[in-house]
Amino acid sequence: MQAENGSGIKTRVFRVSDENFDAVLEEAAELIRKGGTVAFPTETVYGLGADGLLPEAVRKIFEAKQRPPGNPLSLLIHSREDLQQIVRDVPENAFKLMDAFWPGPLTLVLEKSDSVPAITSGNLPSVGVRMPDHRIPLELVKRAGRPLAAPSANLSGRPSPSSAAHVLADLEGRIDAVLDGGAVTIGVESTVVDLTAEPPVVLRPGAIGLEALEEIIGEVRLGYENANEATGEISSEKRAGQKYGHYTPDTAVVLVEGEGDQVSEKIGELAGIFQKDGLKVGFLLSEESASFLNSKGLRSEDSEEWFLLGGREEPDMAARRLFEGLRILDLKGFDVILADGSFSNTGLGLALLNRLKEAASTKFEV
Ligand code: TXA
Ligand code: MG
Repeated sequence: MQAENGSGIKTRVFRVSDENFDAVLEEAAELIRKGGTVAFPTETVYGLGADGLLPEAVRKIFEAKQRPPGNPLSLLIHSREDLQQIVRDVPENAFKLMDAFWPGPLTLVLEKSDSVPAITSGNLPSVGVRMPDHRIPLELVKRAGRPLAAPSANLSGRPSPSSAAHVLADLEGRIDAVLDGGAVTIGVESTVVDLTAEPPVVLRPGAIGLEALEEIIGEVRLGYENANEATGEISSEKRAGQKYGHYTPDTAVVLVEGEGDQVSEKIGELAGIFQKDGLKVGFLLSEESASFLNSKGLRSEDSEEWFLLGGREEPDMAARRLFEGLRILDLKGFDVILADGSFSNTGLGLALLNRLKEAASTKFEV
């Protein structure tokens, strides 16, 4: 290790293919066994992995990401047998959810065992556990023989990475290796459900929605910021692990939420006001808002200012493109990014809107 902040490391990049899969995974597993840090794709976002049971290795994750100490990491496992080592008690509901959704984008918060160090769990008596639906992390955990502490592979407070390029933009020189396995399929982080609470609480919305969870285990409560707007529930305080900022690009993001063309119209109006003030404005839009603004002659000639997420009724596609869009617009030196919150809240829509709200410093509702 060189500088105290974890920088100065030579980051190796491995492009994973069918041909080199075994060799690359063996090398990566060796890095993990030696206490190193390796980033890799999962089906949700890229993760930064290290031996989750080895405090020195976990410390490197905190240093590389500049993650505030105390923010708990979750563990990736390869098989249910791995659970025995890391959690104390697996409630019936956990098995039901594993049967339904693992491997997949669902992190279960369970009572941790003594073998999980305090630095991994952020001093909490519980730990998040997930079996990812991706051959790279599954094989890495299996070969390393250890559960991997694996937060998203971004600098703390930046949008999560949906490609190896995003990982390198944030962490090159700070981690030992990146396994480039191409773009992720989901694009937003897993649903996190706390099963130590009764009824269980969704701490972060993701690809597994509330109805899908309730179908399997009955009543589930929403416990994340802004949950109230989706459901009428009030969540006054952030829960353990959710009290840290997320997804904030450097450029101020102004989010307009609401229905259809009213959102597009408000975006057009705000753009006019900002531009009159001499501000440079970037746009993160649904296709419908882009067409609307075009039809009103509000679209600038400079398409560089626009990032289209997809159709309003295609929130899954928009979710997959969201972090890429935030990163691209963030690099262009705008004074403000106007973001479109008119997407349907079906499928990944709730998770998409949740991430947009977290990225936004100002919100309008129309
Ligand atoms: O999809 C994902 O979950 C990705 C991929 C890489 O697996 N990982 C990820 O990790 O998003 P991270 O650390 O960025 O987010 C894990 C979330 C955090 O919000 C953390 O606070 C919460 O899970 N968490 C972990 N352990 C917890 C615990 N014991 N109690 C409450 N929340 C916990
Ligand atoms: Mg994260």
